[in-house]
Amino acid sequence: MLLRDAEGRARLGGVLLEAIARRGDVPTPFYAYDLDAMVDEAVDLARGFAGRDHLVCYAVKANSAGRLVRRLARAGVGADVVSAGELEVCLGAGVPPERIVWSGVAKTETELDRALAAGILSVHAESVEELARLDARARAVGKRAAVSLRINPGVEADTHANIATGHDEAKFGVPLADVPHALAEVERSSSLSLVGLSAHVGSQMVRVDEYVRAAEVTAGLARELGSRGRALSLLDLGGGMGVDYGEGCPVRPRAFVEAAARAVAAIVDVPRLLCEPGRAIVAAHGVLVTRVVQTKRWSGRDTAGWVFLDAGMNDLARPAMYGARHRVEPLAPSASPLACARVGGPVCESSDDFGTYELPWPPPDLMMIRDAGAYGFTMASQYNGRALPAEVFVEGGEVTGVSRGPDAAEWARARLAT
Ligand code: LLP
Repeated sequence: MLLRDAEGRARLGGVLLEAIARRGDVPTPFYAYDLDAMVDEAVDLARGFAGRDHLVCYAVKANSAGRLVRRLARAGVGADVVSAGELEVCLGAGVPPERIVWSGVAKTETELDRALAAGILSVHAESVEELARLDARARAVGKRAAVSLRINPGVEADTHANIATGHDEAKFGVPLADVPHALAEVERSSSLSLVGLSAHVGSQMVRVDEYVRAAEVTAGLARELGSRGRALSLLDLGGGMGVDYGEGCPVRPRAFVEAAARAVAAIVDVPRLLCEPGRAIVAAHGVLVTRVVQTKRWSGRDTAGWVFLDAGMNDLARPAMYGARHRVEPLAPSASPLACARVGGPVCESSDDFGTYELPWPPPDLMMIRDAGAYGFTMASQYNGRALPAEVFVEGGEVTGVSRGPDAAEWARARLAT
């Protein structure tokens, strides 16, 4: 948990963030994660299933750090993966294959083969065409594929357009009108075994309505299938539970699952319910710690000027990609008066801009960018020839690991090697 102590200093999982930044062996910018709090989030979310047989499949794309996935695996959490790379992380971190599902609109043949070889719980197929390809691969390798249909329930999620996935024209899922074709494809095959249905209509949803509506559509379809003698063993409610980035998200992640599980139970009796949360488990329990490199006076505007950080859009892409606001705050209290400051990174793009915040002016040397545990490091790049940020892991009130990505010199060597 991120807290301020009695002296107003930021602590993550009990550890003073300023102390890590001043140790000298951890370069800024670095991500710091409270793994205990992340595991607690997953456990709390699972309570939403209220005793029904369930599996929380953590969406690894949000944060794929091995140390985190190992902790979640030990807590009995499964995984939702979208690539062979993510599958290897999960298997290597001890997530049993029978707790792994795989979504994605364009899985390659190599990836389908890997899923079949590993024997995962379900390949979530997103099109009729994919079913045909999976059938061909399953026959080629002599395996039976456990498959679920990811349906597109036609539910519009009220979120940023780039992360809404359930509307009619989205590339994701099998549209309801095509479900009969998909079922016929499964029927034709002796290598596909239909185990379930899934839906995921968007990310960062701050109301439960769309989540529940998608679950109702999916459950309705499951009931119809059941009445035609095709009982399913699982129904996957998807991810997308929103978090509070400082602008308010009145709903706890558990409430999404609670409401959807109740809605499903009123429609159909499916043995097992799944969900695929990413952000809700990790976002709030990660921060990006960064140094102020320089300020720049900026006349004619309502701000004291620019504060330039050593963290940029290559380290945390969400503000540049989605116009997302991530609170920027000093690590320690400061005696300077507050002023409006525009916070930017070093990357040569106007979108490398974290927004305007009230900050002490002149600013202290160390800052944190909050709620960066999800879609932070996993979306980082070396654009502009920059290093990848370091990652610091906090468990049991102490730092248990530091990991460093390739630095700028390694980047230069790799480019020269081309
Ligand atoms: N399941 C499926 C099939 C998904 O596509 C996603 C996310 C999730 C689960 C997990 O969603 P979550 O619970 O984390 O909302 N980079 C964007 C978010 C992209 C989400 C993509 N799919 C961002 O930073 O907001």
